[in-house]
Amino acid sequence: MRIADFELERYFARWEFAVRHLLCASDVEAWPMADLLALADDETAALWRDLRLGYTESTGHPLLRREIAAAYETADADDVLVTAGAEEGIFALVNVLLGPGDHAIVTWPGYQSLYEVARAAGAEVTLHELREADGWAIDVDALRHQVTPRTRLIVINAPHNPTGMLPDRSTFEAVVEIAVEAGATLLSDEVYRYLEVDEADRLPAGIDVARHVVSLGVMSKSFAMAGLRIGWLATRDRSILDRVARMKDYTTICSSAPSEILALIGLRARDVVLARSRAIVLENLAALDGLFARWPGTLSWVRPRGGSIGFPRMHPDVDVDRFSADLVEAEGVLLLPGSRFGHPGNHFRIGFGRTDLPEAVAGLERHLARVRTSRRTLGAELSASPVNMIRSSPGDD
Ligand SMILES: Cc1ncc(COP(=O)(O)O)c(C=O)c1O
Repeated sequence: MRIADFELERYFARWEFAVRHLLCASDVEAWPMADLLALADDETAALWRDLRLGYTESTGHPLLRREIAAAYETADADDVLVTAGAEEGIFALVNVLLGPGDHAIVTWPGYQSLYEVARAAGAEVTLHELREADGWAIDVDALRHQVTPRTRLIVINAPHNPTGMLPDRSTFEAVVEIAVEAGATLLSDEVYRYLEVDEADRLPAGIDVARHVVSLGVMSKSFAMAGLRIGWLATRDRSILDRVARMKDYTTICSSAPSEILALIGLRARDVVLARSRAIVLENLAALDGLFARWPGTLSWVRPRGGSIGFPRMHPDVDVDRFSADLVEAEGVLLLPGSRFGHPGNHFRIGFGRTDLPEAVAGLERHLARVRTSRRTLGAELSASPVNMIRSSPGDD
């Protein structure tokens, strides 16, 4: 198999552990192990204490699958297959569903594996472009027109990486309907589910709305335990899970034994775990409202309706790739330029799931101020036209 580099992951491979502040991470501040163990009930405490480090059941620990299923309305344990993160779920599912001659439609910009694996499997991929001018919304009519007789898979991700877009219920239902009519599977990437800004906007899980929908979940994002590398696929179409299980024999075979028990502890305490994540994200979002209010001409965004990331735009006078490279040098703060999504719009991904966000934002603002000053100086030297100036904070014009 030949597959293009995963641009975002290559960028993180270079920077993630080399910077002081990750202002573009998509996960929520990771749970300390000791705090998680303190949440164990008698049964899971015993499972942890007596754990033997052998192979595990390839479909996932039965108690873990039962706990995952309990979060859905219509699932039972056999509707769930545990994977190594969400990433293995994407890789295996797309490989069993698609091959040469098949067609997939995937929202874009987006998490690259959602479309790149399909391409590598030999399928033709149509990107369904989300536009800032439309609030990054899915265009139902355009999507309907993108369906072909060969469409086997439609992929959506809500809340969305990188924009924080969350469709309203009627849009979601229309997408489900389009997939039914096409006879296609719908992959509903729900890894940021439970982080809706307004909980009333939470969409139903894909598995609960139709048999041909596959829900993708993970411990990494809303559950704040990315290091467990535990994800899952959930669907009432068990033939799909059976095929994915056969593919998994060639990737990881089974999950890490300690991770399964830790994930079980986390899921049984989901109310506590999710309340913590929501509190972090909502507090940080309020702090970001302040940032955008202080730099109205320089930074703008469609405020996310869910998730832990957004996709702001930088004023066109400031090249966002250059700015991000200088920012990390000057302040040790990492942003993720939109070019890593192949997006040309001078956007960057900002993450608001980490507790060091205030320090990271302070570094970002120091650098914004520096750039503004240097452009002012340059502008004065060159007697530049106002076009070369950055319009930024209140009173700056
Ligand atoms: C939309 C989306 N899907 C899937 C994944 C993969 O999750 P994991 O890294 O936990 O496997 C990510 C990770 O960033 C993501 O943003």
